[in-house]
Amino acid sequence: MSKIVSPEIVSPGRKPELVPPTDANIARAADLLRAGELVAFPTETVYGLGADATDDRAVASIFEAKGRPRFNPLIVHFPDMGAAEAVVRFDERAEKLAETLWPGALTLVLPRRTDSPLSLLVSAGLESVAVRVPNHPVARSLLKAVGRPIAAPSANRSGAVSPTTPLHVAESLGDRVGLILAAGRCPIGLESTVLDLTGADPVLLRPGGVTLEELEALLGTKVLTPPHQPSGPDPDAPKSPGMLASHYAPGCPVRLGAHDAAADEALLSFGPDTFVRGGATRLNLSPQGDLFEAAANLFAMLRALDRPEHSAIAVMSIPEQGLGVAINDRLRRAAAPRGPATLPDQPPAP
Ligand code: TXA
Ligand code: MG
Repeated sequence: MSKIVSPEIVSPGRKPELVPPTDANIARAADLLRAGELVAFPTETVYGLGADATDDRAVASIFEAKGRPRFNPLIVHFPDMGAAEAVVRFDERAEKLAETLWPGALTLVLPRRTDSPLSLLVSAGLESVAVRVPNHPVARSLLKAVGRPIAAPSANRSGAVSPTTPLHVAESLGDRVGLILAAGRCPIGLESTVLDLTGADPVLLRPGGVTLEELEALLGTKVLTPPHQPSGPDPDAPKSPGMLASHYAPGCPVRLGAHDAAADEALLSFGPDTFVRGGATRLNLSPQGDLFEAAANLFAMLRALDRPEHSAIAVMSIPEQGLGVAINDRLRRAAAPRGPATLPDQPPAP
């Protein structure tokens, strides 16, 4: 359904309002969303840039604000599984995962119902919708107050590092979003895991806050990991365009697998680093080597080290297990050659 929205709503040059998530501000944010405006809000993974998912104009303004390619579909957020069932079809696998892991950092790609009230733009031409029930109290209150599904990508310019604090949102999209519900740092700090359940085999489209091991244990089957053949109406569009090789990219080059850093590089370490040499600026994702702590710090530290005086950000190795798979996925994309959209050569390691 579409509504007429005044053009100044997404006009650049405005200062965003950062407000605490009081009941009154959540009610105000809900009113803005129902009027077709964009609102940034916290989830347990990263901050989202929300719009009424049933409003074509509002959804279109997300793509415009982020500079996001139109072939990249959006995740739609719901207060509970029952609400999601109105727009997509759940099979037994989806029900089991949703009942166990929702609310939480899992997004399910499911077949779209033909009578769904969602804007077609959220699916970007695919016959599926990515649905998620977030587990952040502010996101949950907002979803209940709006009474409509909220389409929300991460609240950053397309291809850049995702926001885990309200200030990151203001830096990235400050002139594009009127209201930011500011509720401190996101506890997980990495986006949700995206699992495609539209085919016979479950396919991991993006590793994230819920691990592959958890999914396989619950499903009792292997989950396939990319590479896939591109599909959909645009043969050049990746199946999940979050798979664009260069993504989450800071301005500085990123050098992976570092054992030390040059004097003009920044060092991003993991675990004990007393004997690691160099680094004009040094930050440690987790001195104890805790992957949860490292995930929560990753995007904020990449942003902090992304300064013109650094020739590169040198990053020490992170174990490829549990949340480390999602951390390494983001780091590989941050380090990938920039340029036109390409599919990654390497799938995320299992
Ligand atoms: O944690 C998260 O998932 C955050 C918070 C705000 O919920 N959202 C987020 O959205 O990360 P975004 O737009 O940055 O990433 C959505 C990912 C993209 O990789 C997109 O291509 C994929 O989900 N996706 C969305 N709809 C899809 C669909 N129908 N089929 C395949 N992939 C889809
Ligand atoms: Mg994103």
